Amino acid sequence: MLRRLFLHGLFGLSAVLVAGTEDRVADLMARMTLEEKISQLVQCSSNDELTGPRGERSPLMAEIRAGRVGSLLNVVGARETRRMQEAAVTGSRLHIPLLFGLDVIHGFRTTFPVNLGQAASWDLAAIERAERVAAIEASAAGVHWTFAPMVDIARDPRWGRISEGAGEDPFLGSAVAKARVRGFQGDLSGPTHILACAKHFAAYGAAQAGRDYWTTEVPEITLRDTYLPPFKAAAEVGVATFMCAFNDLNGVPCSGNRWLLDQVLRKEWGFQGIVVSDWGSIAEMVPHGLAADLKEAARLAALAGVDMDMEGQAYLKHLPELVRAGVVPMAQVDRMVKAVLEAKAKLGLFENPYKYCDEAREQRDMLRPEHLEAARDLARKSFVLLKHDPAVLPLRAGARVALVGPLADAARDQLGMWEAKGRPEDAVTLKAALEARLPGLVVTAPGCAVSEASRDEFASALKAAAQADVIVAALGESWDMTGEGHSRSKLDLPGSQQALLEALKATGKPVVLVLFAGRPLTLEAVLPQADAVLYAWQPGTMGGPALADVLLGDVSPSGKLPATFPRNVGQIPLYYNTKPGGRPQPAGPREQYRSNYLDTPNTPLFPFGFGLSYTRFAYTDARLSSPEMGLDGRLTVQATLRNLGDREGDEVAQLYVRDLVGSVTRPVRELKGFQRVRVPKGGQVALSFELRASDLAFTHTDGSFAPEAGRFQVFLGGDANAPLVGEFTLRAQ
Ligand code: GLC
Repeated sequence: MLRRLFLHGLFGLSAVLVAGTEDRVADLMARMTLEEKISQLVQCSSNDELTGPRGERSPLMAEIRAGRVGSLLNVVGARETRRMQEAAVTGSRLHIPLLFGLDVIHGFRTTFPVNLGQAASWDLAAIERAERVAAIEASAAGVHWTFAPMVDIARDPRWGRISEGAGEDPFLGSAVAKARVRGFQGDLSGPTHILACAKHFAAYGAAQAGRDYWTTEVPEITLRDTYLPPFKAAAEVGVATFMCAFNDLNGVPCSGNRWLLDQVLRKEWGFQGIVVSDWGSIAEMVPHGLAADLKEAARLAALAGVDMDMEGQAYLKHLPELVRAGVVPMAQVDRMVKAVLEAKAKLGLFENPYKYCDEAREQRDMLRPEHLEAARDLARKSFVLLKHDPAVLPLRAGARVALVGPLADAARDQLGMWEAKGRPEDAVTLKAALEARLPGLVVTAPGCAVSEASRDEFASALKAAAQADVIVAALGESWDMTGEGHSRSKLDLPGSQQALLEALKATGKPVVLVLFAGRPLTLEAVLPQADAVLYAWQPGTMGGPALADVLLGDVSPSGKLPATFPRNVGQIPLYYNTKPGGRPQPAGPREQYRSNYLDTPNTPLFPFGFGLSYTRFAYTDARLSSPEMGLDGRLTVQATLRNLGDREGDEVAQLYVRDLVGSVTRPVRELKGFQRVRVPKGGQVALSFELRASDLAFTHTDGSFAPEAGRFQVFLGGDANAPLVGEFTLRAQ
């Protein structure tokens, strides 16, 4: 009879382990040789689908049959994973099943918007739903483990991987991290639940100059209060695994950073799951110059707390010798192996190694109508209206539309990077969707390529424009301009797109610009060339229908920016929760001897949290329940949100606070609450936010984490420039 044993960690983390599992893992470990144990710590990629530099490749099946592999990545498909699993289970002495991992980042076969776009929805239920769908589809194809959610805070849009996360803010990032882990893992009772992985631990997004894989120098207070919260949030909801990052963090690369992986993650947060390296990141401690050779890198990583070596060969080649020499304690290896075996046990792979190899389900569960509808819904909610002219958008019924631009019919580009098994042929483009909705009214012309200087096709675009009442320009980045290894030093429209946009504007026809991108772009030169601008990110399989729904006015746009849009690259890093400084530049004209530039304002083009609607909202009768509270107290902030327009709309109400004086300098604003609410035409909704004293805690110079007594300001509105609505005192007791 199986008893369920609930183990509660520091955060009420309930790791449900079937009592028999504990005994089974212990029994198995007692029978394993050192080499067999270390094999469990080795993860190899399929030789066909590499997601990192191609190093020396061993014949995979031989390695598996020899029992030298504990996990595979980039092997997909019920049949293929069964084949590999059979080789492992039948070939190895102790018949230990493999763990199959894959980057299921924003969908598996049904592709959802890139994650920065998902975050722009601020709709946690829709984001959780997206990961639930991804897990259903991925697990039907034999995947046990996704290397997601990527929860890196990013304040630099030059960094291509900003597209994979939830943007610049730790509060929003933490909420999204929890939703995504819940979507993937559920209660891990399987078989549609998969292990999630909080990555890249940590501060990978702080790469200097926005250059991927580059150095990060982050003071501990900033690390703890800005970059770590989403990881801590993932740990609090029981994320099964972490992935350590490539970057050198304050002089110690994350793969060998014992303070990060042992002190913070395991001792302070109580994490007991697997820490997997990033692709070859253990071995990369040699070029980092932290390790003289691969053996030293293996020692550093094992002692720091990296449990599994992804594509690095460091553990396979050197850990046995390090253990026999007493350099790496056997107890440390046992803890690492136990974490891996327990993960396999959680998924039920010892009872049934082929639990996820169900070909019938694989045929049945991909691209189901409800999956596609979830993708269309989240895409609609992700779009951010940056500029609006009600005379132009929504498109007028019966209007003839010239759909121009290289991204109007770009199925591959709208899937973005890390598309897993998403396929362009499954995607519905903006062109296909508009033609279906407006039969006979759409004329199209690409006008130019995404990144080429040629203007040869401008004439055909202008000819299309001449036949139309309104121009819809589909411009932006291709799929491979963001994501891993895709940093950009300039963030303007690539190629000849700006020139095309200006030529379209010069026709005098109204221009609606739909921007496809995986990151914030610099749009100062773009804005004057369009009457309306809708930021579509990379909207996934159902991006076209979702855009048609919004452009034709079925729904109003409701997205809000999860990252600041700078005016130009020179302002970067630019983020809303900045420190005040000693000589802040006041609003208004530039003042000498103030912190500012000679040639550009300090303000962004669009602030964090910004997004327009087809209707208009007003926040009225805002009030605090009390002018003060104690260090264990709480108060509520209430207001009425009114819809002043002639149509229903969704609004993301945002609550910010400012701690006016602290023992360390405090940000000018911090997001402490948000609510996405639907307000009927002419209607109103009562808003209520609870603010607890503990929500105001921050890291002090002595390492303690607590709120401090003093005066606080409260802001409430539709973006980070929300107006002041009240003040309160946090009393010392
Ligand atoms: C890549 C990425 C990481 C990914 C891993 C496996 O290099 O950095 O995010 O999960 O390798 O594909």
